[in-house]
Amino acid sequence: MATPHISAEPGQIAPLVLMPGDPRRAEKIANDFLEAAVLVSDVRGIQCFTGTYDGTPMSVMASGMGLPSLSIYATELYRFYGVERIVRVGTAGGISTAVEVRDVVIASAAHTNSSVPSLTVPGVTLALAPDPYLLRAAMNAAEALDGVRYHVGPVFASDHFYGGHPDSMGKLIGLQTLAVEMEAAGLYAVALAEGKQALTVLTVSDHLVTPGADLTSEERENCYRSMVTIAAAALRS
Ligand code: HPA
Repeated sequence: MATPHISAEPGQIAPLVLMPGDPRRAEKIANDFLEAAVLVSDVRGIQCFTGTYDGTPMSVMASGMGLPSLSIYATELYRFYGVERIVRVGTAGGISTAVEVRDVVIASAAHTNSSVPSLTVPGVTLALAPDPYLLRAAMNAAEALDGVRYHVGPVFASDHFYGGHPDSMGKLIGLQTLAVEMEAAGLYAVALAEGKQALTVLTVSDHLVTPGADLTSEERENCYRSMVTIAAAALRS
């Protein structure tokens, strides 16, 4: 049985899923990290590949951009395909001065201005956070990788790439927020609602406060490899 946005047959998607934003990145991760990867879904150009990572069955599927897009794929994977763990791998804009371009950010919490994660409990401000065991495994994997600068803390999952509220960045920086991206809070909310596990591991691709030189293609490649290695270690933990 296919879902509205996934055409795979039951059993064709592994319980462990790596989820980049970009569909081309999903194909590259499948080629670079999975053995015997097979295309199992291709609706709207969002391909899903299933193979093995060091012998463990694993799938890679893109989320598209933004909380609404991610929430569709994550919900269908968790609810209809038996997926237990999704780790988002993506890029983020640094906002804390502690964070530099090419660093890894592991999102221990996700703030958002989106209405997608509307898990409302009257009188309660809900915390959107990753699964603690996945978080611990990712931190251990990051610690074990040579030459990787990593940070663990809150990120801001924004509905705006352009034209967000002008005051919000300064306030978020004052509240120790590390970076801005556009999906983590949606993933954490869907995982809570579905009773499943999730984590977000990001590479800082640009810095909104202290812009510097762009990454070279080799640096981009190294950052990407560190992020996927950390995310896959968390999935397999
Ligand atoms: N904003 C939102 N998402 C991003 C950014 C940004 O500046 N950089 C990379 N992903």
